[in-house]
Amino acid sequence: MNNGWQKRHLLGIQGLSATEIEQILTTAASMKEVSQRPIKKVPTLRGKTVVNLFFEPSTRTRTSFEIAAKRLSADTINLTANTSSLTKGETLVDTARTLEAMAPDVIVVRHSVSGVPHLLARWVRCSVVNAGDGMNEHPTQALLDLMTVKERKGKIQGLKIAIVGDVAHSRVARSNIWGFTKMGASVRVAGPRTMLPLEIERLGVEAFDRVESAIEGVDIIMMLRLQLERQDGAYFPSTREYARFFGLDLQKLRQARPDVMIMHPGPIHRGIEIATEVADGPYSVILEQVANGVAIRMALLYLLLGQGNEDTNP
Ligand code: CP
Repeated sequence: MNNGWQKRHLLGIQGLSATEIEQILTTAASMKEVSQRPIKKVPTLRGKTVVNLFFEPSTRTRTSFEIAAKRLSADTINLTANTSSLTKGETLVDTARTLEAMAPDVIVVRHSVSGVPHLLARWVRCSVVNAGDGMNEHPTQALLDLMTVKERKGKIQGLKIAIVGDVAHSRVARSNIWGFTKMGASVRVAGPRTMLPLEIERLGVEAFDRVESAIEGVDIIMMLRLQLERQDGAYFPSTREYARFFGLDLQKLRQARPDVMIMHPGPIHRGIEIATEVADGPYSVILEQVANGVAIRMALLYLLLGQGNEDTNP
């Protein structure tokens, strides 16, 4: 099995080329069919072991990595911070090296601190996949978002996307900015000035203060979750005011194109960043994003665990 993939780890979208992103998307499109079969399992990764190491809560990412591994016949182990020996004072690196002594093939890690997957990648011999690190990156989320756009719109190149909300604290925003710009889309961001990083334009995006202006003429609107767990102060007066000025409701949606696509990485705060009628409405692809998460994670596990990826560069 030589799939031509060269990297040992997936640590971020920033380090991927457009060609590598395209390879992941193409592989995911072929993996998707497995999930539509009556028996959703292929023997591709039989004998491989995937460790899910989640230090932050997760529904979509953790579950879909486990489902993806199982659909490819890999064995999966799930470990959370509060059920591990980290609670007894073991360091993160010692935990990772202990797990590695049991010969897993991939460690999938989510952590509240930026850079943890990069640190582990320096200490273990197996592959490391970033399932979200602090405010840095959430690469598999961006890949499933790119896949959903490509499926719906037939292309990514030349499209316009508005990413709206708590950009400053969002690893989803950062990975998507890298991903969409690398694939030739133009990206706008909008939100309260307190939630737009200084000099965000240096990432190649256009910044807007008003949602109504940002969403005019775009093909895709991506609403972000308010990252309350990462906010260390008062970034907006009240959730009511945030919803009024920055939440996407039917009234603001009138400014958008009639064929606009609405995305949200989840979990959603209904009535705050997105109105229920919008989240559940005809423009929303939120559950398609979730479904594509399985295909993207199957593709990554397949690419990382296939032969021909012995390169030691992350
Ligand atoms: N989008 C996302 O990362 O969701 P979870 O936190 O549920 O994994």
